[in-house]
Amino acid sequence: MNTFYIHTFGCQMNVHDSERMAQLLVGQGLRPVGSPQEADLVIVNTCSVRAKPEHKALSEVGRHQQRKKTEGCRIILAGCLAQQEGHRLLSKAPYLDAIIGPDAVWRLPEILASIQDGHGPVIAVDQHDRDNPCFVPLKIGSIARRSQEPDFAKATSGRFAVPSLDKPQGIPAKASALVTIMKGCDNFCSYCVVPHVRGREVSRPAEDILREVKALADAGSREVVLLGQNVNSYNDPESGTGFPGLLEALDRQGAVDRIRFITSHPKDLSPSLIRAVAGLDRVCEHVHLGLQSGSDRILGLMNRGYTGAQFLKMAAAFRRAVPEVSITTDIIVGFPSEDDEDFKDTLAVVRAAAFDQAFSFIYSKRPGTAAGKLPDNISRQVKLERLSALQSLLVELAADSLSRLTGRIHPVLVEGRSLRNPDAYRGRTRCNRVVNFAAAQFLRPGETVNVHVVEVRGHTLWGETKVDPNLPCRVGDDG
Ligand code: SAH
Ligand code: SF4
Ligand code: F3S
Repeated sequence: MNTFYIHTFGCQMNVHDSERMAQLLVGQGLRPVGSPQEADLVIVNTCSVRAKPEHKALSEVGRHQQRKKTEGCRIILAGCLAQQEGHRLLSKAPYLDAIIGPDAVWRLPEILASIQDGHGPVIAVDQHDRDNPCFVPLKIGSIARRSQEPDFAKATSGRFAVPSLDKPQGIPAKASALVTIMKGCDNFCSYCVVPHVRGREVSRPAEDILREVKALADAGSREVVLLGQNVNSYNDPESGTGFPGLLEALDRQGAVDRIRFITSHPKDLSPSLIRAVAGLDRVCEHVHLGLQSGSDRILGLMNRGYTGAQFLKMAAAFRRAVPEVSITTDIIVGFPSEDDEDFKDTLAVVRAAAFDQAFSFIYSKRPGTAAGKLPDNISRQVKLERLSALQSLLVELAADSLSRLTGRIHPVLVEGRSLRNPDAYRGRTRCNRVVNFAAAQFLRPGETVNVHVVEVRGHTLWGETKVDPNLPCRVGDDG
């Protein structure tokens, strides 16, 4: 085996796990390639949060089955579906060489050796890793001097990355890097499979997090995205410090210009978190707060622990303290027994919260969850109608939010070239909006520049750089 390709489904935890697997493979002498057809080893890193990504992942592995017969490539199914189904997957996909749960990612080298010795298929879905090897940081190569999309980024279907020139064995640094601060989830929202596949909540020591952020900054990253299913319940196992304390420590450390975090559970949103976002210069003005439903009855059935009115109070408090904040959310339609009144309540709360951006989903019954025992009694037709009505409202709110950002200058962290227009750059505002922009000067990923945002183009903003060095820019210009 000389080459590999990783196809990633699901959330940023999976994206980060794919980065870890890529690093382990590079450490074993394998080379990333830009398409699965060229790869000797294909890893499909799966998500089982809804039936749709689960089916997509299974059909993706199925597509490689023929090539395994003719060319002898190896196929590994990793991620949350692997954890959920384990060896049962072999009845659907007997050609798999390995099935690896999220906590067994670090065993990849040993698993590869077993496969090559003819001991496959290997099933590794153990959830009892005492030392939480999933917290082991990536080895980072320095950010490159060239701005180009490398095979690496394509081979992990991750975000923009630049190749490392001086430490080719490491993962190349990204302008914006993911950092795990906790794993698992204890909330058991009734519809959700995550606590069942990712296990109980474990927080990582703050000292380790600070060390990893410093190493990322030394390698060239200018932003970190702190990852956890519910970062608000982070608790440093050594000092007992909560999430706002971790943000303060990272801000004080001053290693990166921008600190982001995903995701927050509304029931654990504290005034001290709002104060941290308001008061700490490096912490960006964006919070992802899953509403899920605006009906108090459905929120109760979902086991979410707040009412629509409480959610709106929190959103209002956030906007008062941080006027520039962008509040994004997730919403589910068609939860068991959701009626027209419940759905109207959702629309009313969504409108009142004036979300800047949102993901909306049709309820999907998941094995092993509490809601899975309730009758999935909303017809497909009604679910689709509700989704469409909700999405029309969300499009309206997102357009208002985007237009409020136009005609102004924003500090934008450069991530790389625009995805559609290679003559333009792409970056993000502090409130996490993508801006594509033209620039007269050459820019590197990781630089922060002032961009005059002139118009909305689809879901993104379009702007031009301002070269006047005296223009206001909160963080990054002096770095
Ligand atoms: N920990 C995050 C959510 C992770 S899952 C949080 O609580 O914000 C991402 C989103 O998938 C959830 O917010 C929810 O909106 C959606 N989701 C989870 N389970 C689902 C299901 N069974 N059907 C439909 N959508 C679901
Ligand atoms: Fe799932 Fe709820 Fe945990 Fe989010 S907080 S991962 S929705 S159980
Ligand atoms: Fe999916 Fe697992 Fe993330 S189920 S949303 S990849 S934690």
